[in-house]
Amino acid sequence: MMSVPPEQQLRAYVDYLRDMGIYDLYRRDDPSVPLPESLRAALTAAKSATSVQNVVVPARAQAGAPVRGAATVSPRASAPPAAASVRASASAFAPPAVPTPATAPTNYFPSDDAPPPMSVEMSAPMPKPKSFDALVPVPSLVLPAAERSAAMEKVRAEIGDCTRCPLAYGGRHKIVFGDGDLSARLMFVGEGPGADEDESGLPFVGKAGQLLNNMIGAMGLPREQVYIANIVKCRPPANRTPEYVEATTCSQFLIQQIDVVKPQVIVALGATAATYLLGVKQSLASLRGSWHEARGAKVAVTYHPAFLLRDPRQKGEAWKDLQRVMGELGLQGARPKPTA
Ligand code: URA
Repeated sequence: MMSVPPEQQLRAYVDYLRDMGIYDLYRRDDPSVPLPESLRAALTAAKSATSVQNVVVPARAQAGAPVRGAATVSPRASAPPAAASVRASASAFAPPAVPTPATAPTNYFPSDDAPPPMSVEMSAPMPKPKSFDALVPVPSLVLPAAERSAAMEKVRAEIGDCTRCPLAYGGRHKIVFGDGDLSARLMFVGEGPGADEDESGLPFVGKAGQLLNNMIGAMGLPREQVYIANIVKCRPPANRTPEYVEATTCSQFLIQQIDVVKPQVIVALGATAATYLLGVKQSLASLRGSWHEARGAKVAVTYHPAFLLRDPRQKGEAWKDLQRVMGELGLQGARPKPTA
């Protein structure tokens, strides 16, 4: 008889419990687990919204039949506006060597071997997350530049070899902490690592990362001058959207990272980043085009680069978003290459 590896067994149990609507597997009630009190309170509040008694469990699950599945993968961005009127300027960050693939281009979307989507009635509705500002008070002090490296190291050490949420058991290889200038004026927040990031331990190094690099370059900045992080630090299996409990468990670290860097502007890449940073459940379309706020920074919302790889017609719209950010930061954009 074929034996199932223990980590696969554990994953199956976690999946099964989550399918039943039981998210409360975490040690939020354990006072020995170091958590900011405000975050513990937020997690406890979330408990009632995710506890099993609030979930209608269909007969199949009640009978004990495990229902395999991951949450239905939601798109990284909402439906794009009908026509992209801006074209020319957007080509500034068009990745020259990456042809537009006919199908989902990267591993940022579920592959053929991804688990089948879970039936709608099995998934407990996602509670509205609290904004980063509502979770922990925003510090008024800005850390001196000389102290930022040690402060960031402390956050990384606190994460350790994290097992706080199921992503630790979902085949993660490396925790993708974040990367860049600790005094950056501009920070990008993505959703979660993909396969390339999971392997390297660095955010946005795959195809979406190449496009993000081009976007940053078109704004007139080298990548090294910005800070880049994600809502979750571990790769979700099959690159699915992070679950509520995964994102909210990980928020405490991203909040600390933002507080160390204290960027002037944060760009939320895609709906997941916007949802958790701002504590909103709104379409990307409704969030684009205006300024929001998180941790003392102005927040702009734009399309996730992986979405732009799938629908390059929206690059013009994303470029409009980035131009607003450039205006805020006084950036002129990349100088045109001299013609020979
Ligand atoms: N997509 C993300 O959201 N983050 C990464 O780091 C890579 C791809």
